[in-house]
Amino acid sequence: MKVTVIGAGNVGATCANVIAHGDYASEVILLDIKEGIAEGKALDIWQTAAINMYNTRVVGVTNDYARTANSDVVVITSGLPRKPGMSRDDLISTNAGIVRGVTENIMKHSPNTIVIVVSNPLDVMTYCAFLTAKIDSKKVFGMAGILDTARYKAFLAEALNCSPKDIQAVLMGGHGDTMVPLPRYTTVSGIPVTELINKEKLNAIIERTKKGGGELVNLMGTSAWYAPGAAAAQMVEAIAKNENRIYPCCVWLQGEYGLKDVYLGVPVKLGRNGIEQVIELKLNTEEEKLLIDSATAVKEVMSVLDKMTVPAN
Ligand code: LAC
Repeated sequence: MKVTVIGAGNVGATCANVIAHGDYASEVILLDIKEGIAEGKALDIWQTAAINMYNTRVVGVTNDYARTANSDVVVITSGLPRKPGMSRDDLISTNAGIVRGVTENIMKHSPNTIVIVVSNPLDVMTYCAFLTAKIDSKKVFGMAGILDTARYKAFLAEALNCSPKDIQAVLMGGHGDTMVPLPRYTTVSGIPVTELINKEKLNAIIERTKKGGGELVNLMGTSAWYAPGAAAAQMVEAIAKNENRIYPCCVWLQGEYGLKDVYLGVPVKLGRNGIEQVIELKLNTEEEKLLIDSATAVKEVMSVLDKMTVPAN
């Protein structure tokens, strides 16, 4: 299994590092446009192999897409991160140009690859990569749900003073303020979360989760990387090991949940072929309304992309 991570910024480097630790990939290529950055970070990661006991060869390159040839999975993290006061959607024009250019280069050298998008605004950048890659949508999808669910679980674990390992949860919708955490599908070792926490506290956690990325941007002046990088790596692992894990991922909907032609977060089965199955939950009226509102918000930004002449990268 050969994996390429595009962008050796905080998210890309963290993702490459976590993948290497997992020891399921034979090689990870880390690529960046800035001379020396990917080489340096990849060398640093590779030098932990003897400490952390893995074989995955980590190699950094400057814009050398030929070195990414025949990748099985490519993770795209390139693009500007948010600054305080910015929404993810504010990044659209700059990042669309970057994601399009990167996707074209990837596809030239790895026509059979699976593409995982991490760049923001996530749902729309995944759409941008899909339009550019011109491959089966089962092989182009975005990372957001695992990150958002992980934040939700972290806040719940803190509030309940329990292990985050025991929390199971599903979260749907776009990667933004309209995301839809589903308390009805949240359990702690099988116990419905609503039996363990009161409604006000749970609602406060849901609201904090929705703004979880922004909370970190405000604290650090730039967007998060440990959890986003680890979340993308978890998707790579499910593919590499053909695990058929059920994760919320941003996928191209073609009628599921009554939604069509939109990239949106829903639970899917993730395996060697990418999206093996979209799982359709029976939502109640309230949940369905929230999901439709989220799809409408994402579609609005998608139409901004459709109308935009993306500058060639
Ligand atoms: C976040 C960014 C990566 O949610 O979208 O932290």
